[in-house]
Amino acid sequence: MYVLASGVRQILFTPQSQLTSSLKSNGETNLDDASRALREKYEFTSWFYDILDYPWERQYRHWRPLLLQDLSGKVLEAGVGTGRNLRHYPHEVHVTGIDLSPGMLSIARRRTKQSVCDVTLLHHDATRLSGVPACQFDWYIATFLYCVLPDAIQPLALSEMVRVLKPGGRFRILEIVYSKDPRRSRRQERLARLVETLYGARFDRHTLQHLRQNDDVEISETRFLKADTYLLIDGYKSLEGPTHALAKEISLPDSS
Ligand SMILES: C[S@@+](CC[C@H](N)C(=O)[O-])C[C@H]1O[C@@H](n2cnc3c(N)ncnc32)[C@H](O)[C@@H]1O
Repeated sequence: MYVLASGVRQILFTPQSQLTSSLKSNGETNLDDASRALREKYEFTSWFYDILDYPWERQYRHWRPLLLQDLSGKVLEAGVGTGRNLRHYPHEVHVTGIDLSPGMLSIARRRTKQSVCDVTLLHHDATRLSGVPACQFDWYIATFLYCVLPDAIQPLALSEMVRVLKPGGRFRILEIVYSKDPRRSRRQERLARLVETLYGARFDRHTLQHLRQNDDVEISETRFLKADTYLLIDGYKSLEGPTHALAKEISLPDSS
């Protein structure tokens, strides 16, 4: 009993706190440590993830179809989790879902039965999509992945996103962030410890900032799905070279 309890304690608490302290102390990321900590966390959480997430999923299930209905072509879903999005993709797309946790993927695999499009699920780390050729995808989708990824490794995940998207390929990222309303943010603060312990997720990641700093992406729209906490970011991979310059020129207002 003691061994079981200390194992659970180690998976839930130690890797994340070790990761956080190593990121803070030297300002660098040990990518292997970061990935291992998250994978172990989700290997454990996958056993009860859908039950744990149920109160929130009651809200998310209304959003998911709206987020995915206008997609077309080849889609990469990063951090596919237990596959909650899979049944909402339109039939004409081909989805490649990747996740760091085999446990989460095996639940997602069962959910592919509910989907109406082609789905391929792969065990991959979103921060290094080795083996995935460049300029493959029309769309990149990530729901609640970037609030899990530490800030120090988000630029890596975003540059992999850019690499695998076709020029002009689009992305849609849904995140949860701290509210500016003091009452709401106090409620979030009360939940923060539990959310980080169970999911590795935080409300203070800087995904939008990382995207703005990436010269290869354009952000087309940001909006909140609920209050000022559920942030949806839409954008696309810049078109390269003269085509991009032309696209910018065309969008300039006519001054004559
Ligand atoms: C909070 S869950 C969200 C799951 C799903 N996207 C959803 O909307 O329900 C985060 C997922 O991201 C996965 N994940 C975390 N880090 C990852 C990484 N570096 N590469 C791929 N998946 C990762 C976790 O294993 C987990 O399944």
